[in-house]
Amino acid sequence: MLLLLVYGALQYFLPDVIGKSVARYLLAILLLGLSVGLVRAISFVLFDVIFQKRKQREAPALLRVLLSVVLYSVFLVLIYKLVLNEQGGGLELIATSTVVSVIIGLALQDTLGNFFAGLSIHIEQPFHILDAIRIGHTIGRVEAVTWRTTTIRTNDNTTVIFPNSTVAREALEVYRFNNLNRRILKAPAPYRVAPQRVIPLIRDTVASIPNVASERTPVVRIGDFADSSIIYEILYWTKDYMWVPDIDAQIRQHVWYIYRRSDIEIPFPIRHVLLEQQEPSVVHEEADYEKVIDSVEIFAPLSATEKEVVARSAIRSVYAPGELILRRGEPGDSMFVIYRGNVEVRLPSRDGNNTQQVAELNPGSFFGEMALLTGEPRNADVITIGEVETLEIRKSVLQQLLDDNEALAEALSRTIAERQLRLDEYARSMPEEERRVKAQTILRRIKRFFSLR
Ligand code: CMP
Repeated sequence: MLLLLVYGALQYFLPDVIGKSVARYLLAILLLGLSVGLVRAISFVLFDVIFQKRKQREAPALLRVLLSVVLYSVFLVLIYKLVLNEQGGGLELIATSTVVSVIIGLALQDTLGNFFAGLSIHIEQPFHILDAIRIGHTIGRVEAVTWRTTTIRTNDNTTVIFPNSTVAREALEVYRFNNLNRRILKAPAPYRVAPQRVIPLIRDTVASIPNVASERTPVVRIGDFADSSIIYEILYWTKDYMWVPDIDAQIRQHVWYIYRRSDIEIPFPIRHVLLEQQEPSVVHEEADYEKVIDSVEIFAPLSATEKEVVARSAIRSVYAPGELILRRGEPGDSMFVIYRGNVEVRLPSRDGNNTQQVAELNPGSFFGEMALLTGEPRNADVITIGEVETLEIRKSVLQQLLDDNEALAEALSRTIAERQLRLDEYARSMPEEERRVKAQTILRRIKRFFSLR
């Protein structure tokens, strides 16, 4: 509107003095100057005010250039058609520009596709320079993003240039630079070596490898029970994903050396033929077991030979940390002596939502005697704290010992009474006499269950 007014004024004042064409050129120059100011103002409002406020970052330079080019083109065409070209008309202008756009659009289909994809990459910024990205099977560090292509450099030191339309179309995996990117690597270990031994060995060595992020402690866990080995998953974090192949190689190398030092062989395909095994987990080291059986208080009434029988017939089992050995409510016909490690006895908490610890038992203590001796279901959960090794004594073995030792039944009934009282939560308030009566009742139950006199 303003422009039309200026143009009218010039035509009015200048016609006869300098001629119409001079007026038009002057007006065109004036308008050009105005359009420069206008483009800058629009660019400022759009990018420095609105964009920055909304996105909280600088607008991409490519977007600014693009807008300027479009606005200048529009202004130039308008100035030419409306001011310099006498025959020019609005309709003709619109028709001409539509046809030109269609022709240009068709001719530059691919280029424009890449251009707009590049534009969206600039605006959305799904990745930045230095990030590692995976496009299809190629992984590399982002080196440059232009309006047409994205260039990445692989670990082979080759550059791969992707048209932006491909980048926009494909599923991208982005590993941000300076971000804690997680990686899972697998390593085997033999079945004969306990996870409790393998896990800390690997974890400590992984933490010491350069480029493994120190902010997160690596995690080692069992990933699979494979044919010939246990497959461990090693989870580590790195701030530069392009180091992953080097870190992986270093881990494998370290693992080889640790295995070597720790007398752990690297598993290779093995086939075991198990013919028949009656007690799979029985490995007797009798001298040690006898010592532990000897230290159990309730076995004090037994003779040395009887203790030896117990030690020899006990079944040795190893449990993982946090493993449930006995479940409350289940039937049970054996008791356990702790050879190594600690266990906790847990009962449901008062609100019933959780469990709470009632007791912690250590090597030389026993558990599971209550169900075994009274025939009632297990009255608590027994869970390992750390790795635990137990000696399991079966009912048949105990039956023989109880037949020959009245004192053993009495010792057991006293312990059971004590533990039962704790469980009943009356222990503190119950008088001595009541305790004795309770022990006697339990003793009668044991005698009945084992058909003792
Ligand atoms: P049982 O009932 O066979 O199974 C759970 C076992 O937890 C139980 O035998 C006892 O051996 C043990 N137990 C139960 N209560 C206590 C307690 N208060 N102190 C120690 N051990 C206990």
